[in-house]
Amino acid sequence: MNGYKIASVEALEILDSRGNPTMETVVTLENGAAGVGGVPSGASTGTFEAVELRDGGARYNGKGVQRAVNNANGPLFEAVRGLDARDTALVDGALIAADGTDNKGALGANAILSISLAAANAAANALHIPLYRFLGGTAANTLPVPMMNIINGGAHASNNVDVQEFMIMPTGAPSFSEGLRRSAEVFHKLGSILKSRGMSTGVGDEGGYAPNLGADEEAIELILEAIEKAGYKPQEDFVLALDAASSEWVKDDGGYVLPKQKKEYTAEQLIDHWAALAEKYPIRSIEDALGEEDWENWPRLTKKLGARVQLVGDDLYVTNTKRLKKGISEHCGNSILIKLNQIGTLTETMNAVKMARRAGFTAVISHRSGETPDTTIADLAVALNTAQIKTGAPSRGERVAKYNRLLRIEKELGRSALYLGGGCFY
Ligand code: PGA
Ligand code: ZN
Repeated sequence: MNGYKIASVEALEILDSRGNPTMETVVTLENGAAGVGGVPSGASTGTFEAVELRDGGARYNGKGVQRAVNNANGPLFEAVRGLDARDTALVDGALIAADGTDNKGALGANAILSISLAAANAAANALHIPLYRFLGGTAANTLPVPMMNIINGGAHASNNVDVQEFMIMPTGAPSFSEGLRRSAEVFHKLGSILKSRGMSTGVGDEGGYAPNLGADEEAIELILEAIEKAGYKPQEDFVLALDAASSEWVKDDGGYVLPKQKKEYTAEQLIDHWAALAEKYPIRSIEDALGEEDWENWPRLTKKLGARVQLVGDDLYVTNTKRLKKGISEHCGNSILIKLNQIGTLTETMNAVKMARRAGFTAVISHRSGETPDTTIADLAVALNTAQIKTGAPSRGERVAKYNRLLRIEKELGRSALYLGGGCFY
């Protein structure tokens, strides 16, 4: 008897960090080992993401996931019943085939992902090895540099800031735990600066502060001040990263307008704007600097800034190898954001990272703005040695859970733990 065969699937509708329904699924194997998978959910979602199945109707304002839960417990369970959970590609292949669509619109990417994650966790538990070891083998040893989002704007906050995320990266730290400590110190210093100026210290969806500001640039100035007042040096100890999430800014005519400040840009002006900011400040990474369908201007952005700035495609690539392949051949950016629920299975997610690597792109493992305490992405970052992770501020339990998991992994790896600091960009 093969005890690693999938014996049962039990899906449940739970709440995410915004209080909206999402899914948590338990997969149990014949040998009794079990694993859990929790599914996140975005707010500034890309148009080309796999389908997150929601019920509609009045219940939970249409956001219920009972249909997805039934799909997981019914047809998706039937598709994976009896499969060896140690074979992630086999399990994921069966889930993809059961859905049968290109975008997982039949049974739901949320239903599919919850089983994909739970099955891998069950296999790791059955083998008595940590998830990063199960997914990455003996090569898994790189703790990621956090991209810590300490000022929230855009669709993640009700302030007047248009850029969605202002992040610090502790590239000068000697280890992950030291980088996390320094970043938390800067976060708290920023909080006391805001407080001393009578500004709001309430936080946004990803745990960063969300004050009203005169202009988006003021967020950068405040962060630099916080870094210095915490006793660190910008550029040497910390570099900055932005997520513009500019797909939210696209106008019908292909130009851009900031939804809150109402400022307008042509694509060319927006590229010049990013170039000027990267010239003036220690900004080392910009995500979704242009819109998800602006294939024409992404190569121009790459040509102008790609040599010194990591240009990350999130809504542009949606963790999808078809879109990434096109972007690589057309020189659209030099990095991909990796979100499991944009594509719906672990296997397809890992394939996107592999493709990025072969092209010399970096890959950043990421949470969503709506999260659960699930820590799979922490293990995934170590498993794939991506060297970068985006998982919010050091506040809100669902964000901190990922950082704490990384602290435990660092301890477990001991002397074999690697932290690349500024080398994470190469
Ligand atoms: P989302 O935001 O989860 O709301 O899509 C995260 C991001 O844009 O990176
Ligand atoms: Zn993004």
